[in-house]
Amino acid sequence: MENQFNDFHLTRGMDVAVKIFPCEEYASWKNESQIFADANLKHDSILQFLTAEERHSGLQKEYWLITAYHSQGNLKDYLSRNVLSWRDLQKMAGSLVSGVAHLHSDYTASGSPKIPIAHRDIKSTNILIKNEQECVLCDFGIALRLDPSLTAEDFANSGQVGTARYMAPEVLESRVNLEDLESFKQMDVYSMALVLWEIASRCDVIGEVKSYELPFGSKVRKQPCMEVMRDIVLHGRGRPEIPSNWLAHQGMRFLCDTITECWDHDPEARLTAHCVAERFNLITQIDLLSNSENPPWVR
Ligand SMILES: Nc1ncnc2c1ncn2[C@@H]1O[C@H](COP(=O)(O)OP(=O)(O)O)[C@@H](O)[C@H]1O
Ligand SMILES: [Mg+2]
Repeated sequence: MENQFNDFHLTRGMDVAVKIFPCEEYASWKNESQIFADANLKHDSILQFLTAEERHSGLQKEYWLITAYHSQGNLKDYLSRNVLSWRDLQKMAGSLVSGVAHLHSDYTASGSPKIPIAHRDIKSTNILIKNEQECVLCDFGIALRLDPSLTAEDFANSGQVGTARYMAPEVLESRVNLEDLESFKQMDVYSMALVLWEIASRCDVIGEVKSYELPFGSKVRKQPCMEVMRDIVLHGRGRPEIPSNWLAHQGMRFLCDTITECWDHDPEARLTAHCVAERFNLITQIDLLSNSENPPWVR
């Protein structure tokens, strides 16, 4: 169920968004507020949290989550409206991966220890656009704190959640290794790869840019169920198509290699978000230095 949204202006001069959860969505509000309550979550690529409140609306209670407001809306809508240059892509994809890397990390940028968090519902409608081309992760309704003191039993019912379209094969198959907290990060990396593919599909360095499509958009209906996704992703080992013309641009080829490594069938073979973030730093640095004439990632 989509929660209700209001946006209004406060006198402090900052646009804020109010996400209103009805009573039935209390658990989701509670979880999202608890995730945001950790000050170590603060990062440029993570939605800025302001406060959470319980409100009385008539006889009913409702629950508010107040955050920064981003007028450009979510990434899916942005990509349907805009075509990206290579530079735009680098900014967008780079900010997304740095957000996921921070979420998964044991440390903050300043080196203090933090509890890693798995988002568990990474998709283009759970990412907002800030300052034109930067991504911000939002919707922590089913995010999970990967507290090392918790046991596999604590995570027992945590295996199969999220959105079927973006679910990793091991999630579709209900074969997540709950003994290892890295498993939750590996699922996020798979979903992140699908979003990176969405971003790549709208970048004009590949030549003609087709109209925006969700991952598996030509194969499934609007809200595919797990059964359908199991057939495609698990049994058929299907992934979104990477047409050969995308590989003509060297930077794009490097990105596509990265995407392919992130959606590997074997969760353990996937790159970590941290490693992907480092690759993006490399692409940006090399691009700045060489204007992408003949960058050293060419094999
Ligand atoms: N802070 C925000 N600023 C602008 N739009 C937002 C903001 N947060 C959410 N939205 C919009 O509302 C949609 C749903 O938000 P989300 O947090 O994902 O709620 P839900 O739990 O209902 O999926 C997003 O896809 C986006 O379009
Ligand atoms: Mg959402």
